[in-house]
Amino acid sequence: MAGDDLHAFWSHCRKRVDDLLEHFLPSAQQEPASLHAAMRYSSIGAGKRYRAALVYATGDSLGAVESAMDRAACAVELIHAFSLVHDDLPAMDDDDLRRGKASCHVAFDEPTAILAGDALQTLAFDVLCGASDTQVSPTQALKMIESLASASGSLGLAGGQAIDLSLVAKDADRSLLERMHHLKTGALIRASVDLGALSANADSNMRECLARFSAPMGLAFQIVDDILDGTADTQTLGKPAGADREKDKPTFLSVLGEGPSKAYAEELTQQALDALDDAGLDARLLRSLALFTLQRSH
Ligand code: IPE
Ligand code: IPE
Ligand code: MG
Ligand code: MG
Ligand code: MG
Repeated sequence: MAGDDLHAFWSHCRKRVDDLLEHFLPSAQQEPASLHAAMRYSSIGAGKRYRAALVYATGDSLGAVESAMDRAACAVELIHAFSLVHDDLPAMDDDDLRRGKASCHVAFDEPTAILAGDALQTLAFDVLCGASDTQVSPTQALKMIESLASASGSLGLAGGQAIDLSLVAKDADRSLLERMHHLKTGALIRASVDLGALSANADSNMRECLARFSAPMGLAFQIVDDILDGTADTQTLGKPAGADREKDKPTFLSVLGEGPSKAYAEELTQQALDALDDAGLDARLLRSLALFTLQRSH
């Protein structure tokens, strides 16, 4: 697929998700107003929407209609937004810039940011509960809830974040880093592809084929995040550059160095592309999204 096609598809996804979130989130006038304002501040109008794009691109490759994928796309972005709000808290990464503006706990306050994260997380599941009103069968909608819940919990994103925090100022070998990345970032990326597949009522065989694509890609996504943290500038990133080094966190960049980390991200992307070929899908958008992982600047 030509870059322009990906660009048009992605802009369309971003706009669609923003419009839908505008509708799903309570108004900032509704009480408790500052909580609703913080939820909206942290979830609408910013972010690459990479995970939503994965939902739409996966569903599209399996013939799903857009309306069947909307709730899944919003749900993965709500979980992602929640994870970023909590990730930036003083008790975690203590970062005061996110998506080019003040982090939620800086723009509001810490208790509000904690609660906004909590409420964004539960809203994700609330939104998914309505998926069976669309073309998704109730059974598939339940599988979406199951898939997203396990990706978000202690054996997924939350577990990966726990490993991340336990490694501050400690050494880590490559396999531990890989396990941490697989959970803290890979789990939600795998769930995004899985929810896209479930939007198209995919069977377990197809879901497994697609997991062989999303697993290496999720890992590559966080390896590139580690590289960018140490090599890009704050303005381009929209979050504080050099934060991992400052917090003394072991990352692929600090453990392997830039060249080998990039080479590994490329190898993983190739594994992901090979898995797509094996799945036998017309998956041009997914291929472009996998390649974007390597080329991204923020
Ligand atoms: C940032 O994710 C956090 C990671 C898991 C690496 P993104 O790079 O997708 O952040 P946004 O959504 O574009 O802000
Ligand atoms: C991202 O890890 C993991 C989650 C937010 C779940 P990072 O801590 O590296 O993400 P950024 O760099 O702050 O976006
Ligand atoms: Mg973190
Ligand atoms: Mg962080
Ligand atoms: Mg990072």
